Amino acid sequence: MVTAWLQSLCLLTLHLTTGFGQEGKFSGPLKPMTFSIFEGQEPSQIIFQFKANPPAVTFELSGETDGIFMIEPDGLLYYTRALDRETRATHHLQLAALDSHGATVEGPVPITIEVKDINDNKPMFLQSKYEGSVRQNSRPGKPFMYVNATDLDDPATPNGQLFYEIVIQLPKINNVMYFQINNKTGAISLTYQGAKELDPVKNPSYNLVVSVKDMGGQTENSFSDTTSVDIIVKENIWKAPDPVEVLENSTDPHPIKITQVRWNDPGAQYSLVEKEKLPKFPFSIDQEGDIYVTQPLDREEKDSHVFYATAKDDYGKLLALPLEIHVKVKDINDNPPTCPSALTVFEVQENEVLGSSIGIFTAHDMDEENTVNSILKYKIVDQAPKFPSDGLFLIEDYQGKVQLSKQSLKKQDTPQYNLTVEVSDQDFKTLCFLQVNIIDINDQIPIFEKSDYGNVTLPEDTAIESIILTIQATDADEPFTGSSKILYKIVQGDNEERLVVDTDLQTNAGYVKIKKPLDFETAPVSNIMLHAENPEPLVSGVLYNASSFASFKLIVTDVNEAPVFSQYLFQEKVSEDVAVGTKVGNVTARDPEGLAVSYSLRGDKRGWLKIDSVTGDIFSVAPLDREAESVYWVQVVATEVGGSSLSSTANFHLALTDVNDNPPRLAKDYTGLFLCHPLSATGSVIFEATDDDQQSFRGPQFAFSLGSGSLQNDWEISKINGTHARLSTKHTNFEERAYEIPIRIGDGGRPPLEAVVSLPVTFCKCVEGSCFRPVGNQEGIPTVGMAVGILLTTFLVIGIILTVVFVRMKNDKGKNNVENARVSELRPLSG
Ligand SMILES: *[C@@H]1O[C@H](CO)[C@@H](O)[C@H](O)[C@H]1NC(C)=O
Ligand SMILES: *[C@@H]1O[C@H](CO)[C@@H](O)[C@H](O)[C@H]1NC(C)=O
Ligand SMILES: *[C@@H]1O[C@H](CO)[C@@H](O)[C@H](O)[C@H]1NC(C)=O
Ligand SMILES: *[C@@H]1O[C@H](CO)[C@@H](O)[C@H](O)[C@H]1NC(C)=O
Ligand SMILES: *[C@@H]1O[C@H](CO)[C@@H](O)[C@H](O)[C@H]1NC(C)=O
Ligand SMILES: *[C@@H]1O[C@H](CO)[C@@H](O)[C@H](O)[C@H]1NC(C)=O
Ligand SMILES: *[C@@H]1O[C@H](CO)[C@@H](O)[C@H](O)[C@H]1NC(C)=O
Ligand SMILES: *[C@@H]1O[C@H](CO)[C@@H](O)[C@H](O)[C@H]1NC(C)=O
Repeated sequence: MVTAWLQSLCLLTLHLTTGFGQEGKFSGPLKPMTFSIFEGQEPSQIIFQFKANPPAVTFELSGETDGIFMIEPDGLLYYTRALDRETRATHHLQLAALDSHGATVEGPVPITIEVKDINDNKPMFLQSKYEGSVRQNSRPGKPFMYVNATDLDDPATPNGQLFYEIVIQLPKINNVMYFQINNKTGAISLTYQGAKELDPVKNPSYNLVVSVKDMGGQTENSFSDTTSVDIIVKENIWKAPDPVEVLENSTDPHPIKITQVRWNDPGAQYSLVEKEKLPKFPFSIDQEGDIYVTQPLDREEKDSHVFYATAKDDYGKLLALPLEIHVKVKDINDNPPTCPSALTVFEVQENEVLGSSIGIFTAHDMDEENTVNSILKYKIVDQAPKFPSDGLFLIEDYQGKVQLSKQSLKKQDTPQYNLTVEVSDQDFKTLCFLQVNIIDINDQIPIFEKSDYGNVTLPEDTAIESIILTIQATDADEPFTGSSKILYKIVQGDNEERLVVDTDLQTNAGYVKIKKPLDFETAPVSNIMLHAENPEPLVSGVLYNASSFASFKLIVTDVNEAPVFSQYLFQEKVSEDVAVGTKVGNVTARDPEGLAVSYSLRGDKRGWLKIDSVTGDIFSVAPLDREAESVYWVQVVATEVGGSSLSSTANFHLALTDVNDNPPRLAKDYTGLFLCHPLSATGSVIFEATDDDQQSFRGPQFAFSLGSGSLQNDWEISKINGTHARLSTKHTNFEERAYEIPIRIGDGGRPPLEAVVSLPVTFCKCVEGSCFRPVGNQEGIPTVGMAVGILLTTFLVIGIILTVVFVRMKNDKGKNNVENARVSELRPLSG
């Protein structure tokens, strides 16, 4: 009967999760058990058959049966109604076996029924409608509201895992989504486009339809629900204010509010940040966001200011991008006109005609250009002396041109007039002083002392600024006036402007100087024509004639120059293993005079190179070694063959690229490694390898193994990383002596190189974890560590004779790198 029942069970609904033997899967003795059963299954299902031993004849079930769980007298446990996880997820039952008198003979034992979830609940939004608002230009991805749904099913199973999705966005322009939802949390935020394009002026509100699905939204069979979300778009008031104009030099009490910024919500921390670092920053902001100018500005110092206003939260994090504030400083007329100099001097010739221009008088004003504040008006307000009459001079109102207004002037009347010029802008008047000197008429031309200065012969390397010739002309006009002063010009033979002539103001002597280098190759001979003239024009009827001209012949001679290398620095790169005799580079030099050049080397300190004296080719003459010189520097010398044997040098750099030509080795002297004897457990020591070749950026990657076969039974090696490995004992039976362990290290280079090194490990008696060894025994026991010997030698050398020396080997690094034995390095005895 029971067997037939059991076979009719839907076996999959029944899971035993506590310890049962094979035969106890569906029946067994009374003991604590746990069963898992899916909710919503067909009722009247058998769970298990308990077997009782006499004298038990029946069972009693108690606890959270909820009237669902039953037991037959023969021990058959079953349930009568479909389970519901959402009502009770776990039923705690007790089961006892009773004898025929109803007395408990076994148990009670706990029976636990876990109800497993099925997706029998649909997700539901907590609200059928949500409302939210978002600021224009909010950060994309920053949630501004949540929708929230619940599902009664087990959230630990897909049945209770919710998936949110925006189904509809209204309006939707150009198919662009402005909103996004986090599919797990229901957080709604702006998309990148939303942050950029949302504008309450264009569209102040949006409606979304949001759906939620269970089963993670991943199957056809998930349940779903939808809700409606209304979103208001609010204006972002965090906007740069319009540019501000501030009047300079304000006398109002400061600070003066000039503009303001506002964060969207109260409580933001405002501050100003300079855009350019200036000695002073005359602006401030208060915690309302009002911006002030703190002191009078000066347009003439700086006519505009740009800075930033920031809004931060309480944690000092920027709430949004800083705003740029532009302040323009408006001009006021706060600068008077200024004279061109304390005294301005003009000259006028005796015979100048009425209306002739004597000069242009120009004053300045610092106020803003092209405004009434800086436009200047000129007026002559005084003339001294007023002889032969007042008002002899005239000045143009705005251009400042000074002219003769009445008559030509005569030096014998008065040689000098002092004029007072009033310069005015809108508000200020400044008086300036102008002296007009009446000078002799320019009726004499400059006459050269001679017309031909002959040959001037110069080497082409004559230094710039050298004076190559002094010339002299004389002028019979009044000395020290524009009529007698002489300007020398080169009018022929120097289109390249290699020369320049300076005039001595006292003597009118002219000094011909070199302005640009001379070059024999392009202009060996030039016929230079000089002209002497006055700054003042000649009176009419007088002309410059041949006496105002002079010439000389400029002869440039060739200079023997040293050979010139095509480069200052020659660089080459070769592999360090190039064969002896390989060409590793070449240099070329050229002699400007066209002589042959002979090459040689200087500073070849390792004797690695030679140079072909004719071709400049450089060859290796010895094996090169990058580990000795990664860049080999020599000088190459080029010498003229014949001539004056001039020479010049250049540098030759030979970069050597690495070849794996160094075998790996131990990184240091490992004479101090020890393990305590006798070993209480297996022990190990750590060592490091190194390699002199150039290593890749990830460092060397050595391979470690034991050197010879018989050791395999005693030792083993494990790699820690590219450079370090651990040598461990395989057992504890070692003698108290030093062992030399051969270790093979491969560098995996190209070509791969390998070395067998010997790692000394000493087994010694330990006291408090340190190695103690009487040195007096050294002779008798050959296994004492080398280091001890070295130490002893050192002591002997310094003259201290000890009969017995104890060397204390101290554990230096604690127990970190020690496994079951102490690892250490030798330390000399010292205070
Ligand atoms: C959603 O509602 C549940 C149940 O009320 C609550 O525990 C949870 O915190 C809510 N989540 C959010 C994001 O509001
Ligand atoms: C849910 O959102 C995450 C990112 O938030 C995304 O990686 C994942 O693909 C989304 N799942 C589905 C099914 O769209
Ligand atoms: C301000 O104006 C007064 C006259 O108005 C002037 O004397 C002063 O120099 C000005 N200050 C600056 C800084 O320009
Ligand atoms: C003009 O002024 C200078 C000083 O600036 C003075 O020496 C000279 O005598 C004055 N000339 C006349 C004619 O007043
Ligand atoms: C100047 O040089 C030319 C050659 O350029 C020569 O013929 C002439 O004789 C020289 N004159 C003098 C004065 O040396
Ligand atoms: C040039 O003119 C001056 C007078 O101004 C005269 O003495 C001189 O001889 C003239 N020179 C020539 C070359 O005509
Ligand atoms: C080296 O020699 C080669 C030809 O052999 C030539 O092309 C190259 O320009 C030379 N380089 C230098 C620096 O002279
Ligand atoms: C390799 O391991 C040793 C010992 O554990 C350690 O000191 C060293 O820093 C490691 N080197 C690298 C590159 O990780």
